[in-house]
Amino acid sequence: MHHIILDSQTDFDGWRKAARALALNDVKPSNVSWRVADDAPELLAPTAPPLEPPQGTFNVPARFVEMAEIAILHRNPERFALLYRLLWRLRTHHDLLELATDPDVAEITAMAKAVRRDEHRMHVLVRFREIGREQKSHFVAWFEPEHHIVELAAPFFARRFADMPWSILTPDLCAHWDGYVVSFTPGVRGEAPSADRLEETWWRYYVSIFNPARLKVQTMQKEMSRNYWRNLPEASSINPLASDDKASDMPRKHADDLETLREEAADCRACHLYKNATQTVFGEGRQTARIMLVGEQPGDKEDLAGKPFVGPAGQMLDRALEEAGIDRRTVYVTNAVKHFKFVPRGKIRLHQKPNTPEIKACRQWYERELAAIKPDLVVAMGATAAQSVFGKITPINKNRGRAIDLDDGTRALVTVHPSYLLRLPDADAKAREYRRFVQDLKIAADVLRKSAHAA
Ligand code: URA
Repeated sequence: MHHIILDSQTDFDGWRKAARALALNDVKPSNVSWRVADDAPELLAPTAPPLEPPQGTFNVPARFVEMAEIAILHRNPERFALLYRLLWRLRTHHDLLELATDPDVAEITAMAKAVRRDEHRMHVLVRFREIGREQKSHFVAWFEPEHHIVELAAPFFARRFADMPWSILTPDLCAHWDGYVVSFTPGVRGEAPSADRLEETWWRYYVSIFNPARLKVQTMQKEMSRNYWRNLPEASSINPLASDDKASDMPRKHADDLETLREEAADCRACHLYKNATQTVFGEGRQTARIMLVGEQPGDKEDLAGKPFVGPAGQMLDRALEEAGIDRRTVYVTNAVKHFKFVPRGKIRLHQKPNTPEIKACRQWYERELAAIKPDLVVAMGATAAQSVFGKITPINKNRGRAIDLDDGTRALVTVHPSYLLRLPDADAKAREYRRFVQDLKIAADVLRKSAHAA
């Protein structure tokens, strides 16, 4: 028996990859068991030897793929097996989907319809309740979907209610919109709140997902006097949450632990990039590091190794750090975006620059790394890193060469990205730009020496 474990209830990519490998290895549907990682394991029949890496290819009708992507969101636990049985049969019976009376075809069709009906039900039935007032209001809704449709239905609300921040709480998964990206957090456990208990449920949920590293008390005070905080349902919890002692009583673990952050980030789905990348490439280095180096995003080598800056750009960085008198083992190295973004071109995966929503979706990890490490200096290498560190588009040439104090108390230095040096075609320009890069890193070393003396 081949036991396939999918990452989540909606892991279509995982199902597709496994189903393709199984079919290419001629594994019959009756020899496969499917389950989702979080479900309790069943008594397992003996495990078959691992599959050979899939060779060759086969086609199934595009309509099957479209229908499977929707039907997999059905709550029926047999759906993965049904989809594989259909895929198996479609290999030799290409027109199978035309046979509406076939029991498998009838079942998948009914499942896809049920999912679409449930999506429609969510679109029309969700009612937001305003929590807080004026610029600080947040809109919260409760919904209990029949099927796993939260990710499917959420973009509709982002388009329809683009200018209001909202959260839709459900028992499976919660969707949030901050005006830029939709993100997802785990579902709300416990009983369904009535309309007038929703505020209390939101409050409890807010406490459980609260991230002290993202709290900017000064900015909040600047934008809104403390007198108005009482209008926010979550305001009553902000003070206790922000204080370290109380935060330790909260359900979320305290943020100052890089290992916890790394584990949490491994499951990050705040944007779509996790789907094609091999893994989250989290930052690396000591929690006591005084310098934090921030790059753009992992490249091909980093994506495979799971470590930042181990490829050609990393070698260039190592050389420059050494020349600047900085030991890489003493710094913390990370990226603004933690998943590799690429387009496949034959056997090559071509790097793609992350866009603003992707940078924003990932910034929570940078902020939490920053709060955990509290470095004396952050060095932003390249435009993407500068955008993340400064929270806005920040030109490199205008800002490089000096430490800049940011509103949140961070000292930051901007420089070019080592990949920029690798791409320069002209040897003289390359040598000149490399010297400037080393010079910037020397400024970083200097800032560090001065803050060590001042301490
Ligand atoms: N480029 C980056 O920005 N980061 C890496 O980790 C590797 C290449």
